[in-house]
Amino acid sequence: MGLHIERGDITTYAVDAIVNAANCTLLGGGGVDGAIHRAAGPELLAECRTLHGCRTGQAKLTRGYRLRANYVIHTPGPVWYGGCKGEAQALRACYENALRLAEEYGCETVAFPSISTGVYRYPLDQAAAIAVDAIETFLKTARSVRTVTMVCFDDATLAAYRTAQAARA
Ligand code: APR
Repeated sequence: MGLHIERGDITTYAVDAIVNAANCTLLGGGGVDGAIHRAAGPELLAECRTLHGCRTGQAKLTRGYRLRANYVIHTPGPVWYGGCKGEAQALRACYENALRLAEEYGCETVAFPSISTGVYRYPLDQAAAIAVDAIETFLKTARSVRTVTMVCFDDATLAAYRTAQAARA
């Protein structure tokens, strides 16, 4: 129950849905996007092609194919341009819209990566504070989503999210 923060590789998680930090084409890329597509197999890209992209902050769902997760929820995060181009609102929308979609599909368990803090260069501490607040707020009124796991790929990310969760408590 609640928000768990741990170190790991999101492609290994046997949850109802894993979230992909995608780009707007939804046609794959590097980072966690590349890892998820590699683990899911070519059927994932084939389904993504039918979705015709996704706007920043919005979310679209596909099956998980060879992944242990049933679904992949793709959400393009904002690129960091210094903080004056609505990046914070867009990043929050990624978490909120991904969780809304998970609810629509009756998911009980969802795993997130640290959206936008890699290639998109969003400052880690600011992103972590937004993510933790958005997830904890959502969980207060969620009907089907019971457990959200923030899967951190390195120790710096893990520390930032744990600090953000402690600061909010
Ligand atoms: N499991 C969990 N987290 C991962 C994994 C993984 N297997 N691989 C990478 N990450 C982490 C990164 O270390 C980072 O903390 O995911 C976080 C997000 O980094 P990126 O994958 O670079 O995503 P983002 O910053 O949102 O940039 C998205 O990068 O890969 C492209 O197609 C993608 O254009 C899009 C852009």
